[in-house]
Amino acid sequence: MITKPKGTYDLYGTDERIYSYISNLIDDYMINYNYDKIRTPVFEASELFHRGVGETTDIVTKETYDFTDRGGRSITLRPEGTAGVVRSFIENKLYGNRSDAIKFYYNETMYRYERPQAGRYRELTQIGVEVFNSDDVMIDAEVISLGYNILKELGLNDAVVKLNTLGDAESRKNYTKALVDYFKPHVKELCEDCQRRLDTNPLRLLDCKVDSDTELFKNAPVISDYLTPSSIERFNKLKEYLNILDVDYEINYNIVRGLDYYDHDVWEYFLEDNNLALGGGGRYNTLIKSLDGPEMPAVGFAFGVDRLISVIKNKIGENEAEKTLDAFIMSVNEEERMFAIKISQTLRLNNISCEINSTNLGLKAQFKQADRLNSKFLVLLNSENLKKGIITIKDNKTKEEVKVDESEVVDYLLGNI
Ligand code: HAM
Repeated sequence: MITKPKGTYDLYGTDERIYSYISNLIDDYMINYNYDKIRTPVFEASELFHRGVGETTDIVTKETYDFTDRGGRSITLRPEGTAGVVRSFIENKLYGNRSDAIKFYYNETMYRYERPQAGRYRELTQIGVEVFNSDDVMIDAEVISLGYNILKELGLNDAVVKLNTLGDAESRKNYTKALVDYFKPHVKELCEDCQRRLDTNPLRLLDCKVDSDTELFKNAPVISDYLTPSSIERFNKLKEYLNILDVDYEINYNIVRGLDYYDHDVWEYFLEDNNLALGGGGRYNTLIKSLDGPEMPAVGFAFGVDRLISVIKNKIGENEAEKTLDAFIMSVNEEERMFAIKISQTLRLNNISCEINSTNLGLKAQFKQADRLNSKFLVLLNSENLKKGIITIKDNKTKEEVKVDESEVVDYLLGNI
């Protein structure tokens, strides 16, 4: 038997229904927030991610799926959505002469060669948003609250935003220097990854999964002491807007994010009792320029949909996400079968979901089948009644039966489902 590749999974049943539910909800939400959907290729030139996500990030050094195609090009399966959307934005000149905030969202699979474990896959799905052309902190607040409101709408009432700022370039430069000065004398105490990070990307030390509880890390310098006055002012303004929007946020100076393109605010979405981030993002004002586009600010975030599915499933349980059907049409003989297929089409074209007996089951088995499909109503056909144009409809819960005229079946069901 051929099995699925490590770190992937098949999506079906309850999980798939939750995924579709999330996708539909987000499609509606994005209309309200004035976003356009964008689809970009699953694979891109490797250079895009090296330059976009960052040469020294874990994602690029350890986690990309790279290959050379038959034309000798260096190709990478996208590990995240931002770089591809930015590439498309630049290449298609989607900025035009616009002076408004330009908003995109996507719902796509990403590929990261990570060690598979709970909530960590090699093929993952992200729903993300990217907003270009506004440096107004008001839009940061709108984007952060958009994600927060989606989590609430999905029933995740204990959602919380962990928020930090990396400040402007000067703040980061000063802070990076302070981190290096602090950790350098202790280099031998650091894990292998952090020894490397100290040279290549000192901010990432704060994301250490091995030593973060040690005194050395607890006493490390914090970014808030190195922010320039204008970065402080910007961060304070953001907090004010988030208060207006009723976003439950907490400041966490250790949120630095695993990608290199951020400046100013960065954040991650969590549930109170869960330490796996459901999503994360931030402002990235230099990425478009660094990928040969115009100088243009941007902000965005992405949810990990696989993680959303699992927390929603835990919350609502299997039962609530069970499939239901409006009606099961029961038939035994050929006359009834011919009527069943006809009326099934009429019901479906009127937005009533239904199923017919298409595997030649006996009457008893059909009752069982209707229960298994959680059918709300049974449409009982009977040759004698059919001649008179009469159909029996049975409520599968209360077991009440009514006889209706053939022409009234649709209205009756629509009025009662
Ligand atoms: P990220 O934090 O790398 O950000 O990923 C966003 C979310 O994707 C994470 O919070 C997590 O829920 C989910 N995720 C990441 N890796 C995995 C995995 N291996 N398995 C399952 N879920 C995973 C970005 O990707 C940025 N592009 C977000 C962004 C958009 N920033 C600005 N705009």
